[in-house]
Amino acid sequence: MSRAAYLVSNTAPIDLAAVRTAMPPPEVLAWCDGDGAGDYQPLWALTCALAPRTIVELGTRDARSTRVVAHAAPQAALTTIDIADCSAVVPAGATFVHADAASAFGAWRDPIDLLFVDTDPHSALQTTGWLNTWVARFARAAAWHDSLTTPVGAALVTWLAHHPEWSGAELGTNHGMYLMWRHTP
Ligand SMILES: C[S@@+](CC[C@H](N)C(=O)[O-])C[C@H]1O[C@@H](n2cnc3c(N)ncnc32)[C@H](O)[C@@H]1O
Repeated sequence: MSRAAYLVSNTAPIDLAAVRTAMPPPEVLAWCDGDGAGDYQPLWALTCALAPRTIVELGTRDARSTRVVAHAAPQAALTTIDIADCSAVVPAGATFVHADAASAFGAWRDPIDLLFVDTDPHSALQTTGWLNTWVARFARAAAWHDSLTTPVGAALVTWLAHHPEWSGAELGTNHGMYLMWRHTP
C-alpha cells in the first residue's frame, strides 16, 4: 500500500465511502445542477459529516454551493467571500464579504473547520496561494471544486506531497470535489 493510500485509509475524519454515495434531500439536489452536478452532492455529505462550527467559502457567484453547505451545517457560522458583489443571492444567515480573498485573508483571525474553495480561474498559482495562506494558517479541512478538470487537482497533490500533516481524497464525479484534512494528534 502506498503512503498516500495508507494515510487516506487511516486518518480520514469521516466515512469517505458514505460521503461518496450519500443522496441529499430534494431541496438540496436542486442546487446540485450545472457545473455542480456530481460534486455538490458529496459537498453536502462531507459538510454534514464534518459538522463544522465555522465555514468559509472562497467564491460565491450564484451561492449554490453556499446554500448546499448552509443546509448541511445550519449550526455553522458561514462566511462567503467573492471579489464580485454577490450580496443579492447570499442566503439569510450567511455573511457575505465583498473582497478579493487575498485581502480578506489579512483580516481573518479565527480557526476554520471547513474551507470551501471555488474561485476562478482555478489556476495552479491561485490554488497554491490559497493553500499557503487560508489553508496553512486557519483550516482544519478544505474542499475544492473543479479538482478533476482544472489545474487545481495537480496543485493540491503537489502541495500535499510537501505537507505530511495533511491528507486528501477525491470525492467528486464530475468537475471534482477534493477533500483534504489536517491530521489531529
Ligand atoms: C465558479 S464561481 C463560484 C461558484 C459558486 N461556488 C457556486 O456554486 O455558485 C467562481 C467565483 O470566484 C470569484 N473569484 C475569482 N477570484 C477571486 C478572488 N481572488 N477572491 C474572491 N473571489 C474570487 C469570481 O468572482 C466568481 O464569482
